[in-house]
Amino acid sequence: EKAQAASKSAFSFTEVEAGVDANHHVAEGYDADILLRWGDKLFPDAPEFDPRNQSAESQARQFGYNSDYVGFIPLEGSETRGLLVVNHEYTNPHLMFPGLVEAVDGKLKQKPLTREQVDVELAAHGGTVVEIEKVGGKWRPVLEGKFNRRITATTEMALSGPAAGHDRLKTSADPTGRKVLGTINNCAGGVTPWGTYVMAEENIHGYFSGKLPEGHRETQNYERLGIPEGAYEWANFYDRFDLAKEPNEANRFGWIVEVDVQDPDSTPKKRTALGRTKHEGAESIVAADGRVVFYLGDDERFDYVYKFVTARTFDPDNRAANMDLLDEGTLYVAKFGEDGTLTWMPLVFGQGVLTAENGFASQADILIETRRAADLLGATKMDRPEDIQPNGVNGKVYVMLTNNTKRKEDQIDAANPRAENAFGHIIEITEAGGNFASTTGTWEVLLKCGDPSIAEVGATFSTETTRNGWFGMPDNCAVDAAGRLWVSTDGNNNKATGRTDGLWAVDTEGEARATSKLFYRVPVGAEMCGPLFTPDDETAFVAVQHPADGGEDWEGHGRPSYYEDLSTRWPDFRDDMPTRPSVVMITKRGGGKIAV
Ligand code: FEO
Ligand code: CA
Ligand code: CA
Ligand code: CA
Repeated sequence: EKAQAASKSAFSFTEVEAGVDANHHVAEGYDADILLRWGDKLFPDAPEFDPRNQSAESQARQFGYNSDYVGFIPLEGSETRGLLVVNHEYTNPHLMFPGLVEAVDGKLKQKPLTREQVDVELAAHGGTVVEIEKVGGKWRPVLEGKFNRRITATTEMALSGPAAGHDRLKTSADPTGRKVLGTINNCAGGVTPWGTYVMAEENIHGYFSGKLPEGHRETQNYERLGIPEGAYEWANFYDRFDLAKEPNEANRFGWIVEVDVQDPDSTPKKRTALGRTKHEGAESIVAADGRVVFYLGDDERFDYVYKFVTARTFDPDNRAANMDLLDEGTLYVAKFGEDGTLTWMPLVFGQGVLTAENGFASQADILIETRRAADLLGATKMDRPEDIQPNGVNGKVYVMLTNNTKRKEDQIDAANPRAENAFGHIIEITEAGGNFASTTGTWEVLLKCGDPSIAEVGATFSTETTRNGWFGMPDNCAVDAAGRLWVSTDGNNNKATGRTDGLWAVDTEGEARATSKLFYRVPVGAEMCGPLFTPDDETAFVAVQHPADGGEDWEGHGRPSYYEDLSTRWPDFRDDMPTRPSVVMITKRGGGKIAV
């Protein structure tokens, strides 16, 4: 009877044993090969990676640090040649720079970064566009690819859309309010139907230091985003990251950035119409009427789920006609009703409470302070909305809610049903009439995460789910060409449970619904990002982020494990190489579709 129920799963593979060690592990019968590591050359003339003599100039020609979003854009419709686009979310200096950490009076202490090290950090952020080709069943980077490019925290970008040029975006270096240097903390992202790469700026607060001048108009705005956190040392060398010296610079981050990958010299555009939050990702789908719908998470406890619907329709036959679709449209925030209904509330200047009385003089003000506008509309405060994935096969939308241990008993609601939600949950949305552009819909909880063998946790994995198959802290996700859901996690690295993060296959249909199976797991200290399936479902790309980092608490705020005393040197396992965040390709031995 058990075998019969299990056979209803849409996924066919033998699970990986849950556990934690220095290496990564994939399901039997599959290969997990390293495609690109931090420091790998992206151009024929790029320098070889030399971790003890790394420079910003080298880093800007090499693969960046801590990959998160991974996307694939086929070239000329090919299934064996395309552009891999990868976000480099953040840097871990204690894992990057040898000798940075020293013991002082028996305690480990990190030395201040030098200017050169900060410049390496700036160059290790951003994104990569690199041509890849499939030869003999495996992918390899094409260093000669004419579209190859690094985007960093110093790449010149344009602000476009309703907030571009606004006074609140002007700085001493840019009196136009239209030109920004760089993008930071690019978490999940997306590839648009017209083949551009979108990067979501997430935890921007960490990069800013200093104090706003007393009574400055951005005080409330920055407080709502936790700016400044001062986690990075960039303000020691660059005034623009010091609020006292350049109070408006932080308004120029927190946007969705669009990159035209067909022109390596193109200026990336920060699309202000999609709002300014701690954007987690920006996955999109074409609605029945041709408008394009982007789903946007805002990763903070008690923050919101958004979507953006373009004003104009997508033209599949004219790429150029789509290139500014993201400058016009409507941004909505979600209200999840207690009765299972969903309302998308427009964030439009002049409508309802979004007026001068509440401090908004224009649509630009609404977009710069998106969260405050959503607060006023009474949107539903969620348990850290991360990646959101529309599924074109079954017409649903999947929302990853990673956790929220600060939710109290008297703050629970139907869409966030657990107090002290340590393990997170997944919501499934059905838009009204199957129309992704609809302003109403319904929703239900697909899965409450956590260990189902501990009753108090309240997890709702199916009984078919094994001790390997459960997970907590859903973060990124993907839908493959067959319409199946894959979930990657951030925060399961835990000595007490002996588990790591990984990639799980989650059934959404029929009797197998809420069954989960472990397909791949990361080395100690890492979290799992990506994931991405090629259009033929024959390759899964995943990103292994911060291997060897600490990670002992369920919040994912790990303690560092230092360069000279690593718990893993994955993937090279060489004494003269640090651990290196990498993108991994997973293929079936002998070829064929994954998990079929
Ligand atoms: Fe960058 Fe919310 O994870
Ligand atoms: Ca994420
Ligand atoms: Ca995704
Ligand atoms: Ca994450």
